[in-house]
Amino acid sequence: MSTGKYVVVLVGLLLVPWVMAQELKPKLGQPLEKLPQLAIGPSGQGLPLGSGSVEEGAIIYRNQCLACHGPTGRMPGNALAGGIGSLDGASPNKTVGSFWPFATTLFDYIYRAMPYGREKTLRDEEIYAVTAYVLFLNDIVSEKTTLSASSLPEITMPNREGFQSVYQIEAVDRALKIQ
Ligand code: HEC
Repeated sequence: MSTGKYVVVLVGLLLVPWVMAQELKPKLGQPLEKLPQLAIGPSGQGLPLGSGSVEEGAIIYRNQCLACHGPTGRMPGNALAGGIGSLDGASPNKTVGSFWPFATTLFDYIYRAMPYGREKTLRDEEIYAVTAYVLFLNDIVSEKTTLSASSLPEITMPNREGFQSVYQIEAVDRALKIQ
C-alpha cells in the first residue's frame, strides 16, 4: 500500500469518532417555536385535537403502562394512583391523584415522557385515552368519561388548593413589606 492510501485510511478512521460525536451532541439552542412539539400549559393551552375514553385507555394502559406502574397504578415506588389526602401524614404518597394540581399537564407529561423508553410513540387520541384512564384509577373521572381539549381543563384535581401561584406569593411578600 502506498503512503497516499495510508493517509486516506487514517483520515477516514479519524472521521468516525467525529461523526459519532456530532450525532451524540445534545441539540441545544433551538428556538422553541421551531420544535415539532406540543407544550401544554395548566389552562390547557396547546392541547391538540382529538379525544380518548377511559375504556380505550384501559387497553393502552394494560399493554404499555401496567408493567411499570402496576395493575391499578399503585406499584410501590412508581405509583400513579392512590395516596389522596396522605401528603400531610406520616408517609406521604405523591401520585397524580394526590399531588398534581392540574389534569392538563398530565397529558403533557405522558406526551413527552411515557411510555418510559418508548417516548413519543403514542398518538394524541391514545394520550387522551390513557390520561383519562389514569384519572379514572384515581377516582377523579368515571369509567364513562371521554376527554378532549375542551373537557380536560375542566377537571379539578384533588390537590389543586395545595398549590399556590408564585405570583400570589410575591403579592403577599409585597403586601407584607408595605406594612
Ligand atoms: C418501562 C417502565 C415504564 C413504562 C412502560 C411506563 N412508565 Fe410511566 N414512569 C416510569 C418511571 C421510571 C417514572 C418516573 C420517572 C421520573 O421520575 O423521572 C414514570 C413516571 C410516570 C408519571 C409521572 C408520575 C408522577 O407522579 O411524577 C406518569 C403520569 C406516568 N409515568 C404515566 C405512564 C403511562 C400513562 C404509561 C403508559 C402509556 C407509562 N407511564 C409507562 C416508568 C414507566
